[in-house]
This record gives sequence, C-alpha cells and structure tokens, in this order.
Amino acid sequence: METQEKRKRIYSAMQPSGLITLGNYLGALNNWVKLQDDYDCLFCVANMHAITVRQDPAKLRKQSRDLLMQFLAVGLDPQKNIIYYQSHVPQHAELSWILNCYTYMGELNRMTQFKDKAAKHADNINAGLYTYPVLMAADILLYQADLVPVGEDQRQHLEITRDIAERFNNLYGETFVVPDAYIGKVGARIMALQEPDRKMSKSDENKNNTITILDEPAQIMNKIKRAMTDSENEVRFAPEKPGISNLLSIYSAVTGKTIAEAEKEFAGVGYGTFKTAVGEAVVARLEPIRTKVSDLEKNKDYLDAIIKEGAQKAERIASRTLEKAQKKVGFPPKIR
Ligand code: TRP
Repeated sequence: METQEKRKRIYSAMQPSGLITLGNYLGALNNWVKLQDDYDCLFCVANMHAITVRQDPAKLRKQSRDLLMQFLAVGLDPQKNIIYYQSHVPQHAELSWILNCYTYMGELNRMTQFKDKAAKHADNINAGLYTYPVLMAADILLYQADLVPVGEDQRQHLEITRDIAERFNNLYGETFVVPDAYIGKVGARIMALQEPDRKMSKSDENKNNTITILDEPAQIMNKIKRAMTDSENEVRFAPEKPGISNLLSIYSAVTGKTIAEAEKEFAGVGYGTFKTAVGEAVVARLEPIRTKVSDLEKNKDYLDAIIKEGAQKAERIASRTLEKAQKKVGFPPKIR
C-alpha cells in the first residue's frame, strides 16, 4: 500500500487595509475556504506590509483584528489552518534582512507595484515600500510553502520570491522550497458597481462602488439598485454591457448558478426586478458572515486565544527555517 502522501503547504496573506469587499470574498477568500481540507494552509494578516504606506495606528490595530475575525467568519478554521498576525512572528523581519542582502536593486527597480505606489505616495517613498517584495519572499519562504494563490497583481512578487529562493539555494544548497503559483479554479472577477470597467477595490473612494462583507442588508440593496446598467433592458452577459454582466457574475458567484442559468431565469424581466433578486441573493450569502463577526466581537477571550495559538504555531515553523538560513550565511548558533 502506498504511504499517505504529505499534504502540500499553501501560504497566503492579506493586508489589513480596510473591510473585505464582495470582490475580495468571491475572488480570493472564498477559494481559500475550499483549500483548507486538502492542503496545509497558513493565512496571515500582513500588518508589516501595511505600514509601507502611512497608517493611523488605532485604525490599523482595529482593521487587523477585523480582518482576522473576517477570516474566521467566512469559514477559515483555526484548528485546520494557521491564522496569525505577521508582526507576532519576528522571524519575518529577521529573514527579510538576510534576503535583502541577496536581492538586487535592479530587480526591485523593475517591480511595477513599487512604481505605482511610489507615484501614488510621492511624499513617502520609503525603503520599506521598496523592499516590500523581499518581506513577502520571507513570508512565503519561512514556511517552505509549495503553493501561493496569487492574483495578477502579485504575480511579479511571486516571481522575485522564486528568484531569491533559487539564488540562495544555488549558493548554499537546498534551503528553501521554491514556491509555485497556485492555479486553482479562478474566483469570480467582480467589478466596481458604478464603474464596471475596473475591479472592485477595498480602497475605492466611492463607497457606492463596493459592497463590503459587513454591509447591512439595506446598504447592499441600495448599492445594487444604484449600480450602473445600460439602456437596453435585457439581462444578458456581453462585453458591451459591463454593468449587467458584473451583476450576473455576482449573482452567479453567490448562488452557484451558471451565467447561462441566470440569463434564462431573468429573460424578459426588467432591470429593477433583476437588481432586487441580485441584492437579495447577496444579502442571503453575507448575512451569516456578518452574524459570525458580531459573535466574535463579543468573545474577546476566544479570539485572543486563537491569535496567541496562531502565532505560536507559525513561529515554530518559521524559527526552524530562519535558523537554517542563519547557519548557511555564517551566523554563529545561539548559545543556549
Ligand atoms: N502583498 C500581498 C497583497 O497585497 C499580501 C501578502 C503579503 C502576501 N505577504 C504575502 C500574499 C505572501 C501572498 C503571499 O495582496
């Protein structure tokens, strides 16, 4: 008989930069939930990455806790996965320093996200923003992750992670697992409600563009009613109908019906009726999540215990890898 195969490890993280949107949920988080039974997963609140742009400390603290609660509320199980704050595991910063010395400025200069963010925050182009991809490499490599589910915007960061890992392994022998992108079933691509030619984003200034997973039912209904459509009055998925197509994607993702089934269901129906149905389906899907978060908010000790345990479990793995890397570069072992 074959011995049981070792489960592959998956690493992912999200920055605590605001409430999770329906787009984040249907595009990423909801897929993470499906991974937890087949993989060894770590899910991290990347609060160290968050300070590469200026944050209000109280708000950052709250958003970090909120993000962790939302991880749990959507169904990530703290018994099956390691769920933790990046800043609770000092090995991230320590490995990041070592890896900085094996990363070239030329490589970092090519990172498109750095260029975009530097342009957006011209008054605060700090060294952390520049070495952001190195910290991300440290996140992933510390846990010897096999797979990383990444969106288009993080592809380049995963590529540099692989380059850094290979460079280090070539110099010193096998130290890090070289991670691959996790190519799973792609999540739904949800667009901004008022401007359906671009992605729904947590940081959108126009709150009518986004639905967060903690929005009240009335807010959700309202935002969907106001979503941009077109003058045709036919519920059909088509490139020239980005607004209606987006609502169809949302409906399909929250109900599990296909686009074709949804088109059939709303054939001959006006946009008003269609929007009400989409709104109700979204409300039904998000309601249990909102309830779970409000339960967690009332249960401080329970959440604190999860946070503590997550950090301990993460640190156990991370410290092993860090010690290995320290030894390879020539740091003397600690005298215990
Ligand atoms: N930079 C990622 C983002 O903004 C978040 C992140 C931090 C991450 N560390 C990671 C994602 C490691 C995957 C793996 O989306």
